Amino acid sequence: MLDIALVLVVIASLLVVVGVSQPLAVRLSLPPSVVLAAVGVALGALPTIMAHLGLSDASGSAARLFGHLPLSSATFIYVFLPLLVFEAGIATDVRRTIDDAAAILLLAVVATLITTAVIGIALWPFAEVPLVVCLLLGAAVATTDPAAVIAIFRDVGASARLTRLVEGEALLNDAAAIAVFVVLLGMIETGRQADALSGLMEFVLSFAGGGIVGLLAGQLLLWVIARTGDDRLVVSTLTLAFAYLSFIAADRLFHVSGVVAVLASGLLVSAVGPSRIAPETWSFLGELWEQIGFWARSLIFLLASMLVARLLADIHYRDGILLVVLLVAAFVARIFSLFVLMPPLERLGWVRHIETSYKLAIVWGGLRGALTLVLALAVTENAALPHDVQRFVAILATGMVLFTLFVNGTTLRPVIRMLHLDRLSPRDQALRDRILELSYTEGRDAAQEIAQTHALSLPAVARVVSPYEARLAEVSADEKASGHLAERDRLAFALVALANNERVLVLQMLGDEAASPAIVQLLLNSADAMAEGARTEGRLGYHRASEAALAFPARFRFAYFVYRWFGLVRFLADRLADRVEMLLTMRFVIGQLRPFNEHEIQSIFGERIAALTKEILEQRAKAISGALDALRRQYPDFAAELEVRFLRQSTLRHVRTRFHSLFDEGLIGREVYADLERVVLDARPARERPRFDIGLNARQLVQRLDLFSGLEDPELERLCTMLRPRLAVPGDRIIAVGETGDAVYFIASGAVEVIRPERRVTLGSGDFFGEMALITGQPRQADVVALTYCQLLVLRRSDFQRFMDGNPDAREKISSVAEARRVMNLSRVQ
Ligand code: CMP
Repeated sequence: MLDIALVLVVIASLLVVVGVSQPLAVRLSLPPSVVLAAVGVALGALPTIMAHLGLSDASGSAARLFGHLPLSSATFIYVFLPLLVFEAGIATDVRRTIDDAAAILLLAVVATLITTAVIGIALWPFAEVPLVVCLLLGAAVATTDPAAVIAIFRDVGASARLTRLVEGEALLNDAAAIAVFVVLLGMIETGRQADALSGLMEFVLSFAGGGIVGLLAGQLLLWVIARTGDDRLVVSTLTLAFAYLSFIAADRLFHVSGVVAVLASGLLVSAVGPSRIAPETWSFLGELWEQIGFWARSLIFLLASMLVARLLADIHYRDGILLVVLLVAAFVARIFSLFVLMPPLERLGWVRHIETSYKLAIVWGGLRGALTLVLALAVTENAALPHDVQRFVAILATGMVLFTLFVNGTTLRPVIRMLHLDRLSPRDQALRDRILELSYTEGRDAAQEIAQTHALSLPAVARVVSPYEARLAEVSADEKASGHLAERDRLAFALVALANNERVLVLQMLGDEAASPAIVQLLLNSADAMAEGARTEGRLGYHRASEAALAFPARFRFAYFVYRWFGLVRFLADRLADRVEMLLTMRFVIGQLRPFNEHEIQSIFGERIAALTKEILEQRAKAISGALDALRRQYPDFAAELEVRFLRQSTLRHVRTRFHSLFDEGLIGREVYADLERVVLDARPARERPRFDIGLNARQLVQRLDLFSGLEDPELERLCTMLRPRLAVPGDRIIAVGETGDAVYFIASGAVEVIRPERRVTLGSGDFFGEMALITGQPRQADVVALTYCQLLVLRRSDFQRFMDGNPDAREKISSVAEARRVMNLSRVQ
């Protein structure tokens, strides 16, 4: 029976080791995982060493405890893996990683398959085990551990993209390798013939199935979170629970890849979470998971490396030869994926170009870590496998981990330096210099001011100020040497900064509950697109993205399609409401960007750039107001309702901020603060958005048309049953030239444009169109396109005929208009 206190002591001691290893790694300038592995291997070997030294007694039993921890691969897989993978998913910047999605997928999934195959085939002639066992080993060592590489990248300031590539690769790569491993293990256990095709099918099913289960679980998690309120303790608890639940559900219930499932749900939460979860809760979640991930990662590393001694128990010199073959094959496979497979895809434009120096760093940085050890352990525990298979996998996988950790891991830093990957790009460098210059100037001025206020002695001031001046001189010399930023680059930088600030402002709106999550998500996406546009194409890219943000999104067009063809109004009404809300929020955000532009942008990038960005912002503001006014004219009540809600939430935020600052300043105690919060929150109005009424009621709309004002009540009643209301959105082509006419349209509100080759005519409220084809029997004479949101009344051909027959007055009017239009169209004059 295991003494629980003893287990706790062991875990606590291991945590001490983990904690101490971090500063030790910094001191030795080694990746922390290398230090952890070294300590782990030493701890694991302790019993043997003790036995050799003839020490047993008290210290001996402690050593035995460390050396023979009751650890199985299941503990690692079920306890640590879900945590590790979920954390990796949630920490991924999904939006920016998507740019490199193709490269990452290739590196991860295809490269995993290639690595497995290359290693398997290379080892087979030398090893005395079947091919499928060689492949199994290939899968076990196909996982890469990014922790060490990323730690170094961060230290030396490698580019963010390189870090993302490696992180993204490792993320999917683990998932892919485990899925392959499981498939192969199944083949060996059941003694099935290794059949590449069915193996591949099994792999694809497990991978895709895991993805689907994970996405569903992630959706469910977000759904539950949305219903539990905004308590950060609750939200984080739920995420922890779901990390395990999605893993086990996928693994045991659906028999698909659990790792892929956890990964998918983590990624979904990372992509959608910021718009669903209040910003403070979200950042708490990020920090909490960072901590959980750190524990899981470090412990799994330490514990797994403690097993090394056990795994290497009966190593033989022949294994050295196999290890060399394995190492060479693994590197060749990696080089093949990056330098042979990738370039054609780069040329096709499927994958963004990756520079050779990056590729070399990725090749050398492919360290193998804890996961490979865990998979090797799983093989040794599997009673269904013969001893020589267990031995083969255990020794070689462990050898590979040790080699990559202690050889690649310790030399990675100089390699990255050699490849010059630790330097900022000239543009970033220039920006950094500019910010340094600015902050040093401010620092110097602040010191002088403080000295003056407090009448400090001149020598004291001089001692503080002089280093700043020296640094200023240094920076400006650097700046001169590297050349100033071109204006175009500065503008691009300024626009990226604006877009980033926009993101922050949008998130604030979410925190204030002044905008719905769906709208926030839309705005975050467009802010990201603007930043990316500015980054890659400067002003043009920013402009393009800001225009795209105002276009009707796919969801809107789908809702409109459903409305047009199936008459379903609800979806369209919701999308219209979304649009009003989005435009209103956008306008508010632009309003807040102005001061940011005037202060921050101007001080960093100078007046000229700030003037340009101001102009760009004003253009955007105008376009937004235009789009908003178009809707507001048609739906003034809804827009006003939303404005009220908006203002109410912002005011509430204001009041609460005041309480908070009073509490922070110590003016009120916790009890009073809590009570104040309760008072305002209880009186808080409903958060729900007012319902959007599309306003399509034939009876009401008919009253707006002069043409029908002379009709008697029974006639009007009959007409109302025949007229069908229809909404048209700006840009919608209601009639296309050349079609056969089937209906006539009366404009109850809004405006349309009749487009003829020789002229364009605008028609507004009270006008009608589409009558000519019905009267003359000819095809449609012109295109008719909605200019604004229009409420139309549609009268079908047969009903039109009936109406005309029964109402000579109206017939007279309509026919004369049609005739006038016909004559007008015959004359070629403009
Ligand atoms: P129809 O030809 O059925 O479809 C196109 C419609 O455009 C046409 O009926 C008229 O209602 C309208 N139209 C065509 N020419 C003109 C014009 N010159 N001025 C105003 N409306 C026009």
